[in-house]
Amino acid sequence: MTDSAAAALREAPHVDRPRVLSGMQPTDALHLGNYLGALRQWVERQDERDALFCVVDLHALTVPEAVDPATLRHRSRAVAALYFACGLDPERNVVFLQSHVPEHAECSWILTCTTPLGWLYRMTQFKAKSEGRDSVGAGLLTYPVLQAADILLYDADEVPVGEDQVQHVELTRDIAMRFNHLFGDTFVLPRAVVPAAGARIMGLDDPTEKMSKSIMVERPGHGIGLLDPPDVLKKTIMSAVTDSQREFRFEHASPGVRNLLTILASLVGESHETISERFGGRGYGDLKKAVLEAVSETVTPIRERFEALMDDPVELDRILERGAAAARERASATLQRVKAAVGVGG
Ligand code: AMP
Ligand code: TRP
Repeated sequence: MTDSAAAALREAPHVDRPRVLSGMQPTDALHLGNYLGALRQWVERQDERDALFCVVDLHALTVPEAVDPATLRHRSRAVAALYFACGLDPERNVVFLQSHVPEHAECSWILTCTTPLGWLYRMTQFKAKSEGRDSVGAGLLTYPVLQAADILLYDADEVPVGEDQVQHVELTRDIAMRFNHLFGDTFVLPRAVVPAAGARIMGLDDPTEKMSKSIMVERPGHGIGLLDPPDVLKKTIMSAVTDSQREFRFEHASPGVRNLLTILASLVGESHETISERFGGRGYGDLKKAVLEAVSETVTPIRERFEALMDDPVELDRILERGAAAARERASATLQRVKAAVGVGG
């Protein structure tokens, strides 16, 4: 094979049906940022992709003091149920819990040994999460190596994520390139796929901060939970921070108003310009009502499907067991390749 043919194979080996892997942490109930940044694109492309989605419960252990065992077990299943409630079809996708596939942790160790420490210290998420803490677990630093294993074990071409994860996917690519360089072609090089709109939804109470699960726990008006009941949605959205102008002007829109505009535009599938024209010169109350309506239309059916799925835990576990078996089949084949390349396990 020529060098360029080998490079083409590494870049995009699944030409007809790109291979996809993504995942979310089971830290808490998911929010609208998770939906618009990641989940929605998973669902929209499920017919054209060979896709695997995991709930990354091992990643949740990086802040062990935050979660007790029974809660973690429950949340992991709840996040899987939310994937399905948002429209992921277990027949067309492989959906599983990360800890059910031990190959992730094993591959992660091998990659930890080939990843320079400096690459990990550079990650903005590590800097943010470790800042101001006296002591953090080593897992917080090596977290992106486990993420790399999640992705590389499935030869994923595409990793659909919100903007905050792009750095981790680029690191995964670097880890794969370094491994391939050291031990010969082993891994496919993945790339992050970020939605055109909604890749970074900001907090409603403070639009300078990204909407995040951990802040939602402390500040109720911060985020829009996918499972929030109607009265909570109303309260959060109607009290969103805007600015001291009384009416909407796109050119001078403050970060809070732009965030509402982005949410509305991506939920109804219209451009910022179209929405701006519609609301130009009108009061912020009108804009917020439109956001509330669009959000309610999206999350009400999700909440109802979620409740039905959680009512049948036996069926949910059955689906996740099937997903884990399908994932293991693929992961173990890749791990064998990796172990053979480095000279262990033979
Ligand atoms: P996490 O909540 O960190 O487990 O993230 C799960 C997925 O949601 C990842 O693909 C993130 O990039 C995405 N995501 C998280 N927060 C946001 C946000 N505020 N806006 C857009 N996407 C987000
Ligand atoms: N680090 C990701 C987040 O916090 C979660 C994650 C773990 C992930 N493994 C992954 C995302 C693999 C995409 C692919 O959101």
